Amino acid sequence: MKVTLVGSGYVGLVTGACFAEKGHHVVCVDNDPKKIQILQSGHIPIYEPGLDDMVKRNVAAGRLRFTASTEEGVDHGQIVFIAVPTPPQDDGSVDMSFIESVARTIAGALKKYTVIVDKSTVPVKTGEKVTETIRRYNKLNSDFDVVSNPEFLREGSAIEDLMNPDRIIVGVMGQRPVPLLRELYAPFACPNFIVTDINSAELIKHASNSFLALKISYANAVAAICESSGANIEEVVNGMGFDKRIGRPFLNAGIGYGGSCFPKDLAAFIKIAEQLGHDFRLLKEVQRINSDASERFLKKLRAELWVLKDKTIGVLGLAFKPNTDDVRSSPAIDLVKKMQSEGAQVRAYDPQAMDKARDMLKGVTLCKDAYETAMGCDALVVATEWDEFRKLDLNRLKSALAHPTVFDGRNIFDPAKMSSHGFLYRSIGR
Ligand code: UDX
Ligand code: UDX
Repeated sequence: MKVTLVGSGYVGLVTGACFAEKGHHVVCVDNDPKKIQILQSGHIPIYEPGLDDMVKRNVAAGRLRFTASTEEGVDHGQIVFIAVPTPPQDDGSVDMSFIESVARTIAGALKKYTVIVDKSTVPVKTGEKVTETIRRYNKLNSDFDVVSNPEFLREGSAIEDLMNPDRIIVGVMGQRPVPLLRELYAPFACPNFIVTDINSAELIKHASNSFLALKISYANAVAAICESSGANIEEVVNGMGFDKRIGRPFLNAGIGYGGSCFPKDLAAFIKIAEQLGHDFRLLKEVQRINSDASERFLKKLRAELWVLKDKTIGVLGLAFKPNTDDVRSSPAIDLVKKMQSEGAQVRAYDPQAMDKARDMLKGVTLCKDAYETAMGCDALVVATEWDEFRKLDLNRLKSALAHPTVFDGRNIFDPAKMSSHGFLYRSIGR
């Protein structure tokens, strides 16, 4: 099938590459000419495991190409996806200006029946608005349908999530586009192809992400109780996770969730609920526990180091999670800034996110690896759980540090092992 993705970021580019991998003919559009230039010259502007090879393979096979022209993309696609940002505004509501302007451009370029699919995370009833907009600017009065098909890909494992989805949600306002969407997703062999009304599909996305964030905050709240009672959060969530109704994923306590989705999606869902007359206090509490998680972690630092002013602290990890270079709303960056505001000197390293973090980290000494980061530090902080950090040579790490003190915000080390190596070791909920 001929497919177009408008917006070639973390979602659009990976989704486009996966459609091409399954045999579809894909055009990825982006209004950032620099990004298109990078893509056309055979480079990938983001780090996502497996993406580089997949893009190269499909470009070479003639199934994937890139353009800065939305019109060209619309000419190509039987199905045109919208995958542009929906960033939060100061009051938590979603800035819909990118979606609206892309909808207008698509409308102006329509020449044949086209299925326009919203992939970006949007407030419920956006599909209705996109439909009105396209109707208004549809010069040639071409036939079209608007569909909601939310993404559920996690950065760092986006290809795996896309190639083997748990479910595909297709929200429609009529049945006409359904066979096309079935054909598009047939090669993915997903057992759960769910067709709903468009409003429900949009809500499924916000309700799902908010629920996952809720699980994480629940684990962080229980971790606090573990610390006060001498229990071990790892044992507790493992025990809980064997209950199929609960499940082990997304119960890892730490310094809280971040990224381009959970923080903005929670704020948006609270706002959407408010506009519909509901005070979603449960989600406000999820947000509060999440900010509290990093504050409680800082308290551990203060408890051991007393004052942070003039202390040198090494930070391992800057990305909002491992296996990505994405630093948007990263709890690690937030932590660095808080430590700096208390006067600490910060040294930092991330296996992939250094370039993207550089501009956000004024005054931070960026290092070439974990050992260089630890050099002369009063303490080391683990902020992102990269596998590379789990495999560190603990003796080498200890001799690099001025004081063998490790604050592990992601529970990657075994407390007994750390103490047998002579570290003063603090982690979460243990
Ligand atoms: C997407 C969705 O937009 C967001 O709603 C969802 O919750 C997560 O996935 P993501 O792919 O992570 O966001 O964003 P980003 O990596 O910033 O990519 C968006 C791309 O769209 C950028 O490359 C940007 O240049 C492009 N863009 C933006 C357009 O092509 N047209 C525009 O009008 C605006
Ligand atoms: C999320 C959704 O999981 C995905 O389905 C899609 O809708 C986009 O948003 P993403 O933000 O890429 O994906 O990563 P995710 O793996 O969900 O992690 C989000 C944040 O939660 C990270 O900061 C991560 O470190 C944190 N997290 C995750 C925890 O603190 N504990 C956990 O147990 C799991």
